Order: sequence, then C-alpha cells, then structure tokens
Amino acid sequence: MKIEILSSPEEIGIKLARKLYRRIMLQPKLVVGLATGSTPLPFYSALVSLVSKKPLDLSRITTFNLDEYYPIGRSNCNSYYFFMNKYLFKLLKLNDTQVNLLSGEAKDYHTECKNYEGRIKVVGGIDWQLLGIGVNGHIGFNEPGSEFNSLTRRVRLSGSTIEMNRRFFSNDKIPFYALTMGLKTILSAKDIHLIATGENKSRIVRKLILTKPSKKLPASILKLHHNVTIWLDNASAKLLEVN
Ligand code: GLP
Repeated sequence: MKIEILSSPEEIGIKLARKLYRRIMLQPKLVVGLATGSTPLPFYSALVSLVSKKPLDLSRITTFNLDEYYPIGRSNCNSYYFFMNKYLFKLLKLNDTQVNLLSGEAKDYHTECKNYEGRIKVVGGIDWQLLGIGVNGHIGFNEPGSEFNSLTRRVRLSGSTIEMNRRFFSNDKIPFYALTMGLKTILSAKDIHLIATGENKSRIVRKLILTKPSKKLPASILKLHHNVTIWLDNASAKLLEVN
C-alpha cells in the first residue's frame, strides 16, 4: 500500500481529482467506482470545479457506487442515490444510463445484487475505485467479519455503523440493512484509492497500517492488492510513526 499524507482533506481532494481527470483524458471509457459519506465530498467538489474550468468529455465513463441502504426510496434525501445526484452526477451532467447504483427499492435483493456483479463484469471490471473507511474498518458496508471472498450482497449494519450514520437520518429511521459490493468485488478493481481524513479516523488508520489482513478489519484486505493508495491528512495520520 502506498501512503500519501497531505495537510488537509481539500488538498487530497484537489490532488486526487487531478489524477482522475488525467486518467479519464487517457482512457475516456474509464469505469469508476464511487463512494459516499462525508470523506469524498472535498474530492467531488474539486472534480466538479476542475471539469467546469477545463471541460472534459465524460460521456463515455461508467460509474458504479459501492453501496446503498436497504430498504430505502431513491427520493429519500438520505439515500446514496440522492447523495450522488446532489454532489456529483447532476453537477457533472452524467446521464442516468452511465451511472450504476444498487437499488434500495429492489423487491428481490438477491437478483439486484447478482445483476450488479453482472453489470460490472460486462464493462470489464472497475478501473479506478474510490473508498472511504468506517471507524470500525468497514469499506463499502462490509462490516467486520465479512468474508474476503464476498460478492455484492445484502448485509446487516453493525451497531456502531448505525450509531455513526444515524445523525444523517434526522426524522427518519435508519435502515438496519444495506446492499454493498463485496470485498472480492472491491479487490477486483485495478487501481484503488482510499481516503481517510480527520482525527476520528486516526485510530483505525493506525490499526490498518499495523495489522495483517484479517476479517476483523475489512479494509485490511487491501494489503493483498498491488495497486492501492491510502490518502491521509495530518489529522488522520497523527498516530503513525512517520509523523
Ligand atoms: C459509510 C459508507 C462507507 C464510508 C463510511 C465512512 O457508512 N458506507 O462507504 O466510507 O461510512 O463515512 P464518512 O466518510 O462519513 O466517515
């Protein structure tokens, strides 16, 4: 794993947005894996501002999001569908046909997850995957204990994730389940970028760097991949020896 430590989330956002911008210039049909949560927001806003200054043809990229609550309506402002449209897809004018999200409205979640895996295969896999990390080490919604060979599936959210994410659901009840790409699905991406920012991620970042791959810390599977960059700010890196 390559580790990049920059001074702030905004600096990470700008650097990573430039990287993705260049990749799309070289590979206009890039398949991009996207993440939600507060962490990727500076990256999304840097990407939107870069594209507005230096127009880029995005009409041939395809995107796949990591996860979605289940069940949840797409018009619910807490759904990841709503989030992605608000912070990225509408601003980049991406077409509905080029973006893929697991549907929290699907009646048959088995088929929904199986089809999602199929759609990723059809486009030749994910070229460039963005990840955040939960304070318990989850990636996507792969909670501690998730199998390293897991595929896209429905999962029950852990108590700590429900507690962490409840703050977004002001009047609504937070769903107990989610649909998520599996750890094997994520590991199949060719180039992976995980962002962890803020002091509240410093403990899990230290653990991730120090421990061997283990089901107890789902993000540790990334140690088995040859092309992963971990992007940290000073606050999330504060418990690392290098500082
Ligand atoms: C959420 C998402 C993850 C995200 C994580 C961290 O539960 N499912 O994909 O990485 O939690 O969220 P945040 O960036 O808000 O800390």
